[in-house]
Amino acid sequence: MQDQTIDQLKEAADYIKTHYPEQPEAAIVLGSGLGNLAEEITVTCELDYRNIPYFPVSTVMGHSGKLVFGNLSGKKVVAMSGRFHYYEGYTPQQVVFPIRVMKMLGVRTLLISNAAGGMNSTFKVGDLMIIKDHISLFVPNPLIGINYEELGLRFPDMSGPYDKKLIAIAKKISERSGIELKEGIYAGVTGPTFETRAEYRLLHLAGGDAVGMSTVQEVIAAVQAGMNVFAMSVITDLGIREEENTITHEEVLEAAARAEPRLAALFKLLVAEL
Ligand code: HPA
Repeated sequence: MQDQTIDQLKEAADYIKTHYPEQPEAAIVLGSGLGNLAEEITVTCELDYRNIPYFPVSTVMGHSGKLVFGNLSGKKVVAMSGRFHYYEGYTPQQVVFPIRVMKMLGVRTLLISNAAGGMNSTFKVGDLMIIKDHISLFVPNPLIGINYEELGLRFPDMSGPYDKKLIAIAKKISERSGIELKEGIYAGVTGPTFETRAEYRLLHLAGGDAVGMSTVQEVIAAVQAGMNVFAMSVITDLGIREEENTITHEEVLEAAARAEPRLAALFKLLVAEL
């Protein structure tokens, strides 16, 4: 595996700065079926991934994906329209390339959403779960390889990857707005298979409340870079259940689309308070 170099990251960041010289306060990465929030940004600049030096380019999405810069809730933000998943064949370093570039642009806060399978018996399809901690041991660590000091420590502390202040703000917004929020631990897996019944039970025994195929590698790179991270899962299916039903990608996308307006409302209120 070819190591990513600092120079490649800098070149990507420099290209972006020539087109968008301002400093976004927050970066937003939206999960499957959860992309509508990007449309609420008052866009000032859009950059195709394929034009940004060394940026990974999606081969599966039909379009290459883009960075969307603009204003949301009165704040400067950048959103990734199109995200890279490890199961698509990207290396862990490619998955986190955009996160590292965001850091080089001066972004301090990272907001992430994802679709996830529920394992906590109190969860229902459509619930929003604040991620308070994660289990990333089932996914290759994106920091494996040469460590560049500019990116952060060789051995970063992971005792509190999810920013407590942002979680507290989200809970206050929840009380005020009536958008109900659960809280739990996200178990990251590679996918692309959904889990077997035995695997959901194992992940639940290990402490997971929800399971999904994204997020943990991005969060690791963001924490190493010293960013404040807030992440939210939309529960799109239930892994531990009595009935014999199967889980499909379509049902995940449908459940995500139904929950998206609540998630978008919450993220907008959160951005307003950054
Ligand atoms: N498992 C893994 N990833 C997922 C799931 C799931 O049940 N639902 C949505 N993403």
